[in-house]
Formats: sequence, C-alpha cells, structure tokens
Amino acid sequence: MTKPAVLVARAVFPEVIAKLEQHFIVDHNQGDEAWSREQLLARLQGKAGAFTTGAERIDADLLKACPDLRIVANMAVGYNNFDVKAMTAAKVLATNTPDVLTDTTADFGFALVMATARRMAESERYLRAGKWTRWSYDMFAGSDIHGSTLGILGMGRIGQGIARRGAHGFGMKAIYHNRSRLDPATEAACKATYVSKEQLLRESDHLILVLPYSPESHHAIGAAEIAQMKPTATLVNIARGGIVDDAALAKALRDKRIAAAGLDVYEGEPKVHPDLLTVPNVVLTPHIASATVPTRKAMANLAADNLVGFLVHGKPLTPLNPE
Ligand code: DGY
Repeated sequence: MTKPAVLVARAVFPEVIAKLEQHFIVDHNQGDEAWSREQLLARLQGKAGAFTTGAERIDADLLKACPDLRIVANMAVGYNNFDVKAMTAAKVLATNTPDVLTDTTADFGFALVMATARRMAESERYLRAGKWTRWSYDMFAGSDIHGSTLGILGMGRIGQGIARRGAHGFGMKAIYHNRSRLDPATEAACKATYVSKEQLLRESDHLILVLPYSPESHHAIGAAEIAQMKPTATLVNIARGGIVDDAALAKALRDKRIAAAGLDVYEGEPKVHPDLLTVPNVVLTPHIASATVPTRKAMANLAADNLVGFLVHGKPLTPLNPE
C-alpha cells in the first residue's frame, strides 16, 4: 500500500521528520523561512496531511484548492491561523498542541512580568551602552512583585499556571477576568478571584494577557482600557498580537500613562510597530514563550502524533473539530 503524502510547512526537529517518514511520504520545508501563500498551495497539492506552525493561514480558499487534504496539525496551542468552521465544512480535521506547553509558557509569562516590573531590559541596555558610572538611589527603581496585585485576562490553562506562580510563589493577590468563571475548586487551587474587566484594569499592578485571539478579542486592550489602568501598572502580552492596539500602547508608554510593558507577540509579527522599538520602558521578545528545547520537542511530537494518529490509526490525539 502506498504511504499517504504529508507536508511539513516549516523546518522542524530532524527526529520528528524521521518519525513521520516511517508512515508517510514527507515533503518538508528545509529552509527557515515561512513559504508564501502560493508556495504553500503548490506544495499542498496531493497531500493528505499538513504540519503547520501558526504562520500558515488555513481558510476556505486554501481548502478549496487542496481537495486531498484531510488533516492540518498545528504545532501551537493557539490556532487563530485556522478557520475551524471552514475546516469542519470541508471535512478537514484540525489539531493543536495543548497541555505540553502550559508550564513552560506560564514560566515565561511570569518571567516577563518580573523583567518588566524590575526594568531588566532597560537597565541592561543602559549598562551595555557604557552609561553606568555610579550607584544612585532611584536608578531603575521599578515596582514590587511580592504583595502586589496580579491581574490575568484569560484564565485557561496558561492563565491558571500564572496565577498559581504569582499567588503561591510570590504572595501576590491574583485576580482574573475570563469569558466564564472558573469552578470554585479551580479558583481555590489558583488562589484567584474573579472580577469584572473594569475592576481588573483598575486594580491590577501587573496585568498579563493570556486570552485567545478572535474577532471579539481584537484590540481588547486599547487606549480606553489603558486609560483605566494605574499609572504605575505594567502590562504583559504573551497571548497574540492584535489583542493589544500596539500603536496605542506605544503612545501610552511614551506618555508614561502606564509604567512599562512586556511583549512577546505583536500585531503583524514578525514586524514590530516602529514606535515600540523606540520607547525605553518596554521589554520586547520574539514570540518565544513556549521556546524551551523539551517543550518545542513535545509540541512537534504531538503535532506529528496527531498526523499519525489520524491518517494511520483513524484517531487523532488532540482534535479541535472531532467528527
Ligand atoms: C502557541 O502555542 O500558540 C504559541 O504561541 C506558539 O509558539
């Protein structure tokens, strides 16, 4: 029996390609760049499965042009690059990689909260520029983590992990807002209190965004929301670009409307709003919240196992739109 053909749209660990080659004829992107839409469409012809990473938009037009496609496995927990409705209509299975990155991403989110509050990037740039000549009583004085109020917008697995780190590890008061309230046992385990979005904005000393991107969450944080925050507050986004209005944030940072921000994701990334690159009070990282070697391997393996599970055994591990 001939093996089904699959496409791996981005470079990935060689052992994961080798695993896929045991079951499939594998065509893979050997470069480090994402393919253009045209290249992706051409390479998808005749493929039963695709391994994507979040840069590839899977929508009705693409599905129409790729009638052999039966599954797309995203190597990411977020799947805003998928039109899941269109995939379901075209009978194409969608999978993502939940759970395996929760703790790694929560670790990073918490690290970014700390780096932002304690002005780590700004002070490092200062030192590297040779500007450090003496100790000074208020040099890079930031705000405290311990005893402060940690606000979390979006309370899925990663948000809960961040709440636990803040409340249990650093004695923070954790408050959260989410589409739906957690059950009392989960709230107690996270030591987190449900509040309205307005209260969250008003009371957070450090606000972190961990909600999925959708048309409803587009610019969930813009000038009007920032105006409700404390002038001493910090804002961290590890969720998705587009949830924050980056232009409004850059202006708020420049005007010292809030103290500082930490960003791992951007509107239109890998492009970054030019104003964010020139304000000092922001820590900028290139979408690396899940980037540890073990976690990236676990994500890649789970995406590959979804292809094998579905195309070989008829049973995907983490489907988003089960039949
Ligand atoms: C995810 O898993 O959604 C991350 O953002 C990708 O690294």
